[in-house]
Amino acid sequence: MCGIVGYIGKNKANEILINGLLKLEYRGYDSAGIAVIENNEIVCKKDKGRVRNLYNLEGINELESTIGIAHTRWATHGKPSMVNAHPHLDNHNTFAVVHNGIIENYHELREELIKKGYKFYSETDTEVIPNLVNYYYKEEKDLLKAVNKACKDLKGSYAIEVISKDEPDKIVVARKDSPMVIGVAGNDKYVASDIPAVLEYTRDFYLLADGEFVELTRDEIKFYDEDLNNIEKKIEKIEWSEKATSKEGYEDYMLKEIYEQPKSIRETIGSRLKENEKCQFDDIEIDKNYLQSINKIKIVACGTAMYAGLVAKNTFERLLKIDTEVDVASEFRYRDPLIDEKTLAIFISQSGETADTIAALKLAKHKKCKTIAVSNVIGSSITREAHYTIYTHAGPEIAVASTKAYTSQVVLLELLAIHFAEVLENNSEEIETLKDEILQLPKKVEEALKTGEEVKELANEIYAQKDVFFIGRGIDFTVTKEASLKLKEISYIHSDAYQAGELKHGPIALIENGITVIGIISDKKLVKKSVSNLQEVITRGANVIVVTDKDLSKYNFKKIIKVPETNKLLSPILTVIPMQLLAYYVSKAKGLDVDKPRNLAKSVTVE
Ligand code: AGP
Repeated sequence: MCGIVGYIGKNKANEILINGLLKLEYRGYDSAGIAVIENNEIVCKKDKGRVRNLYNLEGINELESTIGIAHTRWATHGKPSMVNAHPHLDNHNTFAVVHNGIIENYHELREELIKKGYKFYSETDTEVIPNLVNYYYKEEKDLLKAVNKACKDLKGSYAIEVISKDEPDKIVVARKDSPMVIGVAGNDKYVASDIPAVLEYTRDFYLLADGEFVELTRDEIKFYDEDLNNIEKKIEKIEWSEKATSKEGYEDYMLKEIYEQPKSIRETIGSRLKENEKCQFDDIEIDKNYLQSINKIKIVACGTAMYAGLVAKNTFERLLKIDTEVDVASEFRYRDPLIDEKTLAIFISQSGETADTIAALKLAKHKKCKTIAVSNVIGSSITREAHYTIYTHAGPEIAVASTKAYTSQVVLLELLAIHFAEVLENNSEEIETLKDEILQLPKKVEEALKTGEEVKELANEIYAQKDVFFIGRGIDFTVTKEASLKLKEISYIHSDAYQAGELKHGPIALIENGITVIGIISDKKLVKKSVSNLQEVITRGANVIVVTDKDLSKYNFKKIIKVPETNKLLSPILTVIPMQLLAYYVSKAKGLDVDKPRNLAKSVTVE
């Protein structure tokens, strides 16, 4: 998963390109580079390391060119190195290419090109592309046609930009299964993997669909389908404020996004729920007959998105009385799942670009399921695959560790379950109180965020721990999974989440003196059981911290973190807040890069 930027216009390209890459580093940052056309030659500056290192490359700041492409890499083929960094040129230094995605048949293509006399210098899959373009250009003598022919040979995913010294005032762009947007401001044109990279220059964007090609020149922008027939596209006005993609005074994006949750939840509720009104889901045409015809709801996602699904399962089953299963996309897609036209399949993906989740969605469609995508990114790949898409409107989530997207996903899925219940006319007092509680969530999240200082103190006490365990029952167990993932992925502390009732079946053997165990307790019917499970670990030497909305002060817990009470089905949205903060402050106490944790990328567009 990488970040790519392009520019053609009246200004110097180098500054725009590097500035854009800096905003895309959350997509990958082990090497970076730019290529411009200067005096009818391609000038390529690239190296291993972070984007900011580009400024140190000799001559890069003196480049006067007003056309260029750029790339920040997340290595998938070949270690991070200068040679493997993008852009990649053909053997004759006539074409330069940047690429986001994976070319699955690059070995065969490389062999064929070697037979045609081409040489390869990198370990990347990408390097076949400029040489393929070179090969086809010999007969086509047209950059767009040569790129189009090259793409027809490619199997896998790609978002590419291509420039050529033989057509120095043109950028050709193509995408398949990897995101790409084009921003326009007068005659200035910007290409990027993601909107934040160039949002400071324009709010007017074309969102590219799979199989589309674009020819950008100084005066024109032309769109084509994969057979190079002209197509028309409309401009989308992106309302995100520029500040939305900056840190707004917070030390890290993650902290900003944690504290944005009252606002992001309010935005997610948006116009879908108003007092004393039914839920609005005009973007989904699912009627009573269809809902009565299905016998299963399948929620499929990865990581945090899957944990949001675990929460929603409880509400779908309680309000709709339809069996609801939650599955990991990377397992679901290879299992030959028992789904058919009687299954409603819901796919959750913040980025909308997670390869496993998109593949799982395609499988569900193949098996005749109706599909709904829940995404945070307008026009992302998954939204083009699903029958319906509903957006979380959480705003850009830059930190690799997902926080506001998770709570927005849960809220949106709760609203969807209520909407379906209303379509089924399962109206009940419970649904009315649930709707009231949802409307109160932004305020209650603000309350939960006030635990920040006490959580920070707690983090400074436990950051040196080697292991931290989270336990909970029922809906609280779903939060322990997310809490454990948060801590693991940004503090690198080993952590596990267990159903509290499972401890005695093995995991309690791990409990020893001084270990930290965090219990989540919100389900009043399970308080006693959960407390006794925590007592069991206390007697074996554990330090127990509890996150709860109940009064448990009579128990001998080391620390109780109190959050506001709400409907049990919504409690994860509040009990997760101190856990997000705990992960953040533990990571800070360890001096780690909270927003860009090691080995991780913001969205996993490779399998
Ligand atoms: C969450 O903190 C992680 N970064 C990761 O588990 C993420 O939720 C997962 O990769 C799914 O991403 P998506 O929502 O963009 O599909």
